[in-house]
Amino acid sequence: MLVNGIKTWAPILPVKRVVLDFSSPNIAKEMHVGHLRSTIIGDTLARMFEFSNVEVLRRNHVGDWGTQFGMLIEFLFEKFPNWEELGSQAIGDLQVFYKASKQRFDEDAEFKDRAQQAGGEEKYRAAWKKICEISRNEFDQVYKLLDVQLEEKGESFYNPYIPQVLEKLSSQGLIEESEGARVIFIQGHQIPLIVVKRDGGFNYASTDLAALWYRLNVEKAEWIIYVTDVGQQQHFDMFFKAARMAGWLPDPKEKKFPKTSHVGFGLVLGADGKRFRTRSTEVVRLGDLLDEAKSRSKSELLQRLTENGKIVDWTDEELEQTSKAVGYGAVKYADLKNNRLTNYTFSFDQMLSDKGNTAVYLQYAHARICSIIRKSNMDVEELKVSGNISLAHPDERVLGLYLIRYAEIVEEACTNLLPSVLCEYLYNLSEMFTRFYTNCQVVGSPEEPSRLLLCEATAVVMRQCFQLLGITPVYKL
Ligand code: ARG
Repeated sequence: MLVNGIKTWAPILPVKRVVLDFSSPNIAKEMHVGHLRSTIIGDTLARMFEFSNVEVLRRNHVGDWGTQFGMLIEFLFEKFPNWEELGSQAIGDLQVFYKASKQRFDEDAEFKDRAQQAGGEEKYRAAWKKICEISRNEFDQVYKLLDVQLEEKGESFYNPYIPQVLEKLSSQGLIEESEGARVIFIQGHQIPLIVVKRDGGFNYASTDLAALWYRLNVEKAEWIIYVTDVGQQQHFDMFFKAARMAGWLPDPKEKKFPKTSHVGFGLVLGADGKRFRTRSTEVVRLGDLLDEAKSRSKSELLQRLTENGKIVDWTDEELEQTSKAVGYGAVKYADLKNNRLTNYTFSFDQMLSDKGNTAVYLQYAHARICSIIRKSNMDVEELKVSGNISLAHPDERVLGLYLIRYAEIVEEACTNLLPSVLCEYLYNLSEMFTRFYTNCQVVGSPEEPSRLLLCEATAVVMRQCFQLLGITPVYKL
């Protein structure tokens, strides 16, 4: 029952459609480790909901709108008069470009003026598109490496909806004039939520209100989930409350849908206890980070295989695939295993260790089970059809009972939006397996058929956990 058909052991959740707003970096600015966390946590949540038969709209709410674009566009015109013909590589590093344009903006009043007036003409739109496209290519490389699917609906997408949404809120008497701006006063907050700036422009909050309206009314989502650092908690708290005042959402005490949730997470710290940065540059290139994890795991693997004289058994392709699965998996797991609200210290040594609660340890545990199954002379596939599992030994019972809790665990992780719950389950499972395997002989024992099936069930559930965590399992290590 357990080893057959995946969907029979998925939980049943009280929602059908979820909008998951995650990753969401800003065009032309750095995609920092905070965005990496959002991408990894968001993807796992999406996978868990999808597994539970919930439709997930994976939304990349990129920052592709705002005052910085006038500055970027003017700078583009100035630096690259032939910008229209340029390929996406020609501008070079967009973050460097951003910094240079900011400097120009701060130092030259005439340039600043021009940047603030920019807009309207077709040529500005074309330039804006070009800049977005360059950024998008960079982001997509990271998503490809991480094997994360996202659909971009950036801030600009919701722009046309802002006036009508604000109009509605205004007619409900929620919007007031305050010091030249238009704001919503919210109980429990000293400063109001600004929805129209003093210069008449819209902002992050007005965009988020329009996006929420769209997600509720057009996309008909029942649960709208936002994954960002905890630093943005106040913003979310305020605009969720504004939406409740407008009657868009029920009181959270009623525990009804539709509902909104902010999935906050802590900082990524370096070994020095400060915000994580690499040595050479102040920003961490996500691609480099993943590369390093992979090459470190590759040299570990090579060393181990050489010592055991096993290197001949491995093709280059296998080596490459395995070190990628182990390295990338280590980065993801290190992020997911902690309660997301706590800060975590980024350390290659720690995450790539084969001891303790790491992805590497879990990959070894899984590969060991696979090798036990390979060593047996029995055919597991056949046993799955004709065999039975009997849980006679206490350690068999503990393992078996834990295996059937899988759906309950996924349900808990979804309900509380906590990927760490699934990580903890996976780790405990491998510990229970070790205890079982230490105390119960499998290959060559009279109980071999049943115990082999228990091994297989454990491997299947472990792989299912890996899959929900976005980690590629390896079968030999
Ligand atoms: N672009 C924002 C940032 O980098 C995150 C956006 C999160 N989503 C939202 N709907 N506000 O901080």
